Amino acid sequence: MIRLAVSFARARLFTFAVAGLLLAATAPAWSQSEYKPEVGMDGKDVVWVPTDQPLVQTMLNLAKVTAQDFLMDLGSGDGRTVIAAAKRGLKAHGIEYNPMMVELAKARAVAEGVADRASFEKADLFESDFSKASVITLFLLDEINERLRPRLLDLKPGTRIVSNTFTMGDWTTDESVTLPKCTSWCTAHLWIIPAKVEGTWRMGERDLRLSQTYQMLKGTLGGKPIADARMSGDRISFTADGMRFVGTVSGTKMTGTMEGHSGGWSATRR
Ligand SMILES: C[S@@+](CC[C@H](N)C(=O)[O-])C[C@H]1O[C@@H](n2cnc3c(N)ncnc32)[C@H](O)[C@@H]1O
Repeated sequence: MIRLAVSFARARLFTFAVAGLLLAATAPAWSQSEYKPEVGMDGKDVVWVPTDQPLVQTMLNLAKVTAQDFLMDLGSGDGRTVIAAAKRGLKAHGIEYNPMMVELAKARAVAEGVADRASFEKADLFESDFSKASVITLFLLDEINERLRPRLLDLKPGTRIVSNTFTMGDWTTDESVTLPKCTSWCTAHLWIIPAKVEGTWRMGERDLRLSQTYQMLKGTLGGKPIADARMSGDRISFTADGMRFVGTVSGTKMTGTMEGHSGGWSATRR
């Protein structure tokens, strides 16, 4: 908590010092006559600090966004992540508590020619429905991410969550990228919502017993421990019988192959 407060306090000092320079350097002409937010100003639960454009692009790359995705930015600020996503051809929606920022983001989307794909809404992210998103972006705080975590884990398997700098407590990342030559807010973290597979599955004549902590699995096949077992969305992988099993989970069924071996495997939830 103290660390977080210090983090954003440091951000405030840093950003106030360079805000003028940054805004002058990065703000396109459209914003000159618009509402001018101050970096570090209070938000409902988090102050406004914009994600720098290189990290916005890194976050979108890490999520491997495609035109088929629907991205939601929770606490969308001036709309930059939503607009950057829309420029890649996907629909994107920002939830932002500050109504002035919502109007600014809408004006930016119009000015950047992506208003048909970039939308914004004045709302509290804790009261918003983000179940339709296939990609969620965050630049909040560790503690807020942790409050959101149960709802995130209930999203469709394969949904990607990308956070600027802040983590998810004991939920380890699937991947992280830190930008070189960057002084603050330089890391993008990715989590992929795992399918829920904990329990017992029948695989041929044997039981596959799985326990699950987020995307990490432990268990046994026919009573013998499996190794290196994990989920990535609806994809399961583990080592057993000296072979690498990879497969896909769909409801109460799993089907897959063994790497380097012909034939396949399947399992049904008991
Ligand atoms: C650190 S800024 C990130 C802005 C943007 N996502 C970005 O990366 O540039 C956090 C934003 O969340 C907004 N915010 C804070 N609490 C909120 C809440 N409960 N609901 C919606 N927005 C909130 C703030 O107003 C601020 O614009």
